[in-house]
Amino acid sequence: MKPIALTGIKPTGLPHIGNYLGMYRPALDLMEKYQGMYFVADYHALTTMHDPDTLGELVYAVAASWLALGLDPEDAIFFRQSDIPEIPEFTWILSCFTSKGLLNRAHAYKAAVDENLAANHDPDEGINAGLYNYPVLMSADILLYGSDVVPVGLDQKQHIEITRDIAEAFNRTYGNILKVPEGVIQKSVMKVPGIDGRKMSKSYDNTIPIFAPENKLRKRVMRIVTDSKRPEDPKDPENNTLFTLLQFFASPKRLAEIRDLYLHGGAAYGALKKELAELILEHFASARERYATLMADKTFIDKVLQDGAEKARQMGKPYLEAARKATGID
Ligand code: TRP
Repeated sequence: MKPIALTGIKPTGLPHIGNYLGMYRPALDLMEKYQGMYFVADYHALTTMHDPDTLGELVYAVAASWLALGLDPEDAIFFRQSDIPEIPEFTWILSCFTSKGLLNRAHAYKAAVDENLAANHDPDEGINAGLYNYPVLMSADILLYGSDVVPVGLDQKQHIEITRDIAEAFNRTYGNILKVPEGVIQKSVMKVPGIDGRKMSKSYDNTIPIFAPENKLRKRVMRIVTDSKRPEDPKDPENNTLFTLLQFFASPKRLAEIRDLYLHGGAAYGALKKELAELILEHFASARERYATLMADKTFIDKVLQDGAEKARQMGKPYLEAARKATGID
């Protein structure tokens, strides 16, 4: 069998262009060399998302996105995290090999504490233990199936390091039982700006959602922040959100033309935004069609996720059994 590439995506927002360029596409590109395992990380979402209808709906939206963007369920193993009962069990075992200090230093937890401290609140105010243990749950996701590589964005790098630490701590105690994975860090994820110029992220509300209705998608693109330069003014393409986004979708030939207009005058922001919207709609035309079909009747998604969960559980069982045996709680 091919080595395993595994990645999860949290159903906390509608998939956007930053997710696609930084995560879906690179992960799907690994399919040639690796056995792909992809899952919807709904347990992780539960650390922050406490509205059941939204969570349920977003699980489908993320699942449909993977399938629409090219995940072939015959080839990849595609499932929902919460369909794997071995995950919470393994999480507990692994938590007993996770130093608490390691979790104290995890970025997301530390950021929440720092925010409390800055506001003169109790350091742990409003922080649930799920958020605190988030990295352990993630290590269970990765270690349960003996994953070889984990393609993620730069923001997840620390989680991979924590996972490696946990696996090594376990192996030091019991021998070489867990496979220590490698992260495949997609640096480009940082370089996809949102419509306000900061990193594209749901938390900044600056995304361009891939599967939004056409008029909504167009509106988001038209809201890309630009400066007040007139069309005839020369502009610097290097520090320009609109140009950066055009780079991802325009043909090399057209991009060279646009670059020339930037440098020598003639680049009209309004017209270029319209062009970008068209390019995006064109790029995702067939994916958008597939997405609409999948969301209109969810039985196909349900079936795919069920089959995937069965396969994933079969892959995970030997590792969990070996871990249980090693610890003596077998
Ligand atoms: N924490 C990841 C994120 O926010 C999602 C995730 C959960 C994940 N489990 C994983 C990614 C396992 C890779 C492997 O993007």
